Amino acid sequence: MEKREQLYEGKAKKVFKTDDEELYIVSYKDDATAFNGLKKGTIVGKGVVNNRLSNHFMRLLEKVGVPTHYVEELNDRETLVKKVTIVPLEVIVRNIAAGSLSKRLGLPEGTPMKMPVIEYCYKDDDLGDPMVNEYHIFAMDICTKEELDIIAGYALRVNAFLLDYLKDKQIELVDFKIEFGRTTDGTIILADEISPDTCRFWDSTTHEKLDKDRFRRDLGGVEDAYAEVMRRLLGE
Ligand code: TMP
Ligand code: ASP
Repeated sequence: MEKREQLYEGKAKKVFKTDDEELYIVSYKDDATAFNGLKKGTIVGKGVVNNRLSNHFMRLLEKVGVPTHYVEELNDRETLVKKVTIVPLEVIVRNIAAGSLSKRLGLPEGTPMKMPVIEYCYKDDDLGDPMVNEYHIFAMDICTKEELDIIAGYALRVNAFLLDYLKDKQIELVDFKIEFGRTTDGTIILADEISPDTCRFWDSTTHEKLDKDRFRRDLGGVEDAYAEVMRRLLGE
């Protein structure tokens, strides 16, 4: 598949057109940002880990009934995906209190939630991705009620599957963020990525952080943590 002009460059990925109107190529970078781009850095090898892990998760999720944008892994950093228009929502699912939820609600990090918590943030960098609820989403016409029902259902299915799958690999799934897109015919599918950039992964025994919080919080050992997740999940 020929790579054509670059459509978009985000903080962690570039997106290219291809010969096929319905397919894009995403290319994962080693660039890391946090706090809405205020903190910048590089995590060596991150692009490879995130590309390979995200594809691995999406292939597994397809098998449990979550449609995704994944088509084919082209090389270590590049993947062929279905063209979508992103629904401008960050869909966050939480099993254990951490990060912004801990701050907002005064719950110590590590507090288990009695049930999975879904939160939505409106994707707008200028506004700092503010949290919104169903009323805002429908009133602003971000998506329809039918679409949000599908999105929430898939988000919970992703959570249930990944919780169980990662437990076997000695990883606690604390929380994660996913995004959905609409294909040309309007079908809602899982898009963007699922990786240590977009999830909180804690070692089940030591609770050591194995994700981007090591970069956000200057904990050191960022590359080692990403490599460790890849080793546990892909055996390399
Ligand atoms: P938070 O606790 O900072 O709100 O983050 C919740 C989850 O969402 C966590 O797994 C990290 C992920 N996340 C992103 O993927 N992108 C973002 O821009 C933010 C703020 C969080
Ligand atoms: N990548 C996001 C940013 O730069 C935030 C994050 O993952 O913490 O804003």
